[in-house]
This record gives sequence, structure tokens and C-alpha cells, in this order.
Amino acid sequence: MTEPQTLHEIFYCSVLAQDLPANAVGAIVSQARARNAAQGITGLLVFDGLRFCQHLEGPREAVAALMQRIESDPRHIEVRVVHQGPLPARRYSGFGMGLAESEGPDLMAGVHALEGEAALKHFLALRSSFDING
Ligand SMILES: Cc1cc2nc3c(=O)[nH]c(=O)nc-3n(C[C@H](O)[C@H](O)[C@H](O)COP(=O)(O)O)c2cc1C
Repeated sequence: MTEPQTLHEIFYCSVLAQDLPANAVGAIVSQARARNAAQGITGLLVFDGLRFCQHLEGPREAVAALMQRIESDPRHIEVRVVHQGPLPARRYSGFGMGLAESEGPDLMAGVHALEGEAALKHFLALRSSFDING
């Protein structure tokens, strides 16, 4: 696919808001899929029952605008952009927004404990162990 605009990626981590049931995540993702598809945004959201990590990629302005909406979403707290920058080619062209439930808290806690590109690299290395529902 030829990309008409500069691609950008954002990787952030957050924590589910306290009074929210874990099944609220299904609603977030189905809404996200429709919107992301319309804006050329692809990526992966991983949730372990408590923590989120989401990797977003797409046209720079669309990704930045989405990140602003996500940052002010009360359904999660402690939203922290860990890494962002230009991206030469998409990593998730096969699906719009994949969702994976990480088994057990340890994997995502490990990603949350890291900073910057190290956190993203660790996340990408874990990808093959996730059962991604695209
Ligand atoms: C963990 C998490 C991930 C989200 N991911 C996306 C996403 O990929 N795309 C999207 O459009 N909205 C996503 N949302 C929802 C946005 O925060 C926001 O509610 C939605 O884009 C609608 O924004 P609006 O009400 O300002 O129109 C996510 C929310 C949370 C809590």
C-alpha cells in the first residue's frame, strides 16, 4: 500500500479506571475499530485485566488527534505516552485495531516498568505470544 502522508507511531500505557468492569474493553474496541478504519489508523491494544498498552500507527495528524482523545478518556488513568515518532512502514497492516488479552499480569507489568523505545521493543517482542483478535 502506498502511503499518501507521513506515517507516525505512538505507543502508550495506561491503567483501567477503578470503577470500570473489565468487559468495558469490548465496547471500547468495537467503537475504536470503526473510527480507526475511517482514518487509516491501525494498531494493537493489549489488556491484561488491569493494564493497557496500545500501539497506534497511521497518518501523523490523525494519530495525534486520536491520542488527544484517548488521553482525556476517563475510562483509564495514568495514561503515559512512552514512545512516539515517524514510522517507515506499518507493522499492523493486516488488521485495523487488534485486541489481545494478555494472560496473567506479569507481561504487561514488565512493559509498564520500562521507558521509551525499550518499552516498545519489549512489547513488540511479546507480540508473537499474544492471541490477537483482529
Ligand atoms: C484504552 C483505550 C483505547 C482506546 N483506543 C481507541 C482507538 O484506537 N480509536 C478510537 O477511536 N478510540 C479509542 N478509544 C476511545 C477514545 O478515548 C474516545 O472515547 C473515542 O475516540 C471517541 O471520542 P469522542 O467521544 O471525543 O468522539 C480508546 C479508549 C481507551 C480507554
